Amino acid sequence: MTPDASDPRPVKLAPSLLSCDFTHLGDELRAIQSADWAHVDVMDGAFVPNISFGLPILAAARRASNLFMDVHLMIDRPERYLRDFADAGADGITVHVEATPHVHRAVQQIRELGKKAGVTLNPGTPLEAVRPVLADVDLVLVMSVNPGFGGQKFIPQSLERIRTLRRWLDELGSPAELQVDGGVSPTNARAVVHAGASVLVAGSSVFGQGGAAAGLERLREALK
Ligand code: DX5
Ligand code: ZN
Repeated sequence: MTPDASDPRPVKLAPSLLSCDFTHLGDELRAIQSADWAHVDVMDGAFVPNISFGLPILAAARRASNLFMDVHLMIDRPERYLRDFADAGADGITVHVEATPHVHRAVQQIRELGKKAGVTLNPGTPLEAVRPVLADVDLVLVMSVNPGFGGQKFIPQSLERIRTLRRWLDELGSPAELQVDGGVSPTNARAVVHAGASVLVAGSSVFGQGGAAAGLERLREALK
């Protein structure tokens, strides 16, 4: 989206590797080279009802690409693995408030590792759960589907949640990114950005038919 006076935020696109063809991970990363970040969804089969992939895939992606590796940890007690994900090549690490009783400590640890710290919450979790750490994070992620799977439908109430978090961040004067993840497509991308998002995650709508480069282009067109 071309920034203008009414919308000064440059929008970043973060294709989610969850929907890519893992037999060609290097090619898929090259296809999204013009994106801003690569979104890396780690699922443990406990915090969410699905298992995706972990450290070796992140390390391989790191070797294949210089994109910012935006790691979304959908795992219980993520503080156990922060150093491992930092060592494997994460540039930013996002943890769920529901996954640990020590979310503030986790955020501190991510920053001590020299990485960008993100916090997120499920669609059913009150926004107040992230408010105490807002001043201490580099990114807030609004989940617009229940985490666990790609290809789900965007939950419309997410727009109001994005607007509220945008207001809270602005009130704090926080430069933190406001990221949205789940069901983002050319159909709703403009509305999501208009509500206040600065980073859009998109999996199935990017790595769909026609290849990832074309998918990214469709998203960019929708934001013009
Ligand atoms: C869902 C993941 C998302 C997922 C998005 O649990 O966090 O990042 O890959 O996929 P789409 O864009 O297909 O909804
Ligand atoms: Zn994600």
